[in-house]
Amino acid sequence: MRVLLIGGTGQLGEALQRALQAVPALTLTVLTRQELNLTQLGQVRSAIERIKPEIIINAAAYTAVDRAEAERDLAMTINGKAPGVVAAAARDCDARLIHISTDYVFAGDKGSPYLETDPTHPLNAYGESKRAGEQAILAAEADAVIVRTAWVYGAGGKGNFVKTMLRLGAERPEVRVVADQIGTPTWTGDLARAITTIACGMDTPIPAGIYHYTNSGVASWYDFAIAIFEEAAALGMPLRLQRVVPITTSEYPTPARRPAYSVLAWGKITPYLGGPAPHWRQGLRTMLGELQNLR
Ligand SMILES: NC(=O)c1ccc[n+]([C@@H]2O[C@H](COP(=O)([O-])OP(=O)(O)OC[C@H]3O[C@@H](n4cnc5c(N)ncnc54)[C@H](OP(=O)(O)O)[C@@H]3O)[C@@H](O)[C@H]2O)c1
Repeated sequence: MRVLLIGGTGQLGEALQRALQAVPALTLTVLTRQELNLTQLGQVRSAIERIKPEIIINAAAYTAVDRAEAERDLAMTINGKAPGVVAAAARDCDARLIHISTDYVFAGDKGSPYLETDPTHPLNAYGESKRAGEQAILAAEADAVIVRTAWVYGAGGKGNFVKTMLRLGAERPEVRVVADQIGTPTWTGDLARAITTIACGMDTPIPAGIYHYTNSGVASWYDFAIAIFEEAAALGMPLRLQRVVPITTSEYPTPARRPAYSVLAWGKITPYLGGPAPHWRQGLRTMLGELQNLR
């Protein structure tokens, strides 16, 4: 099976490379930003036609949520327009597209886990651009599976909440963390395994459409930070930290508004994956172990 991965240098992309390389009889092509820049929409189709993949996984995105407020057009090109061009090329090559989207398509005011069918209402430019990407893919009428996920972190890639907390916890006695935003931390290792199963691990392919996948359980950023420091201390990682102080969103103003509640309901995807994903705390433990081995 020929699989094309776009965005292989990101934190999810790195985990995907590892998961896909472990699949027998799979030929993996990874295109980096240097080889296929998604701002060059005119080059997308020819790059895909040259590789003739059976499966395309798009893990590339403009992910700087706050910067996107000032770079709306750039975010919209990469997240909103390029996925539609990828989807049209996939359709014309008879390839299946697996595209990653986000909990930030929702407003965060539902108060119970969001279903795939719930109305979207992004609060920020990043969320708007990601929703536009979903819509462009659906409009292309490709054989596409859109996987919305949330609060992603992994040992690979440039940075994420876990790495930031570990850095701050090693430098300072006190860290202040937002306690009134609720979601589900999702480890790239579990997400990559799920995407790999969707791509090539099923006898009967999962029907095209939108699916939600996160680790199981629910946490605030504050809960997540506490767990990071507990697990890091148990592993003997260096910490100066003595206090984690819960704060409100209004005490930590950011250029982009974020949903207060963005837990995703994953009941639609679990039958295809043989059950729910591991609890987020288990994923965190595995990621921290991996990070320590890398140090
Ligand atoms: N991070 C989260 O919390 C989160 C939550 C929900 C959903 N998601 C979604 O999950 C997916 C993976 O996210 P991630 O956290 O792994 O992101 P990431 O670590 O920021 O990686 C983004 C990837 O996209 C590539 N990229 C950026 N601009 C590009 C361009 N113009 N052309 C080609 N490639 C480009 C990057 O390449 P370089 O290495 O060259 O920069 C990198 O490989 C994305 O669709 C994201 O929207 C993420």
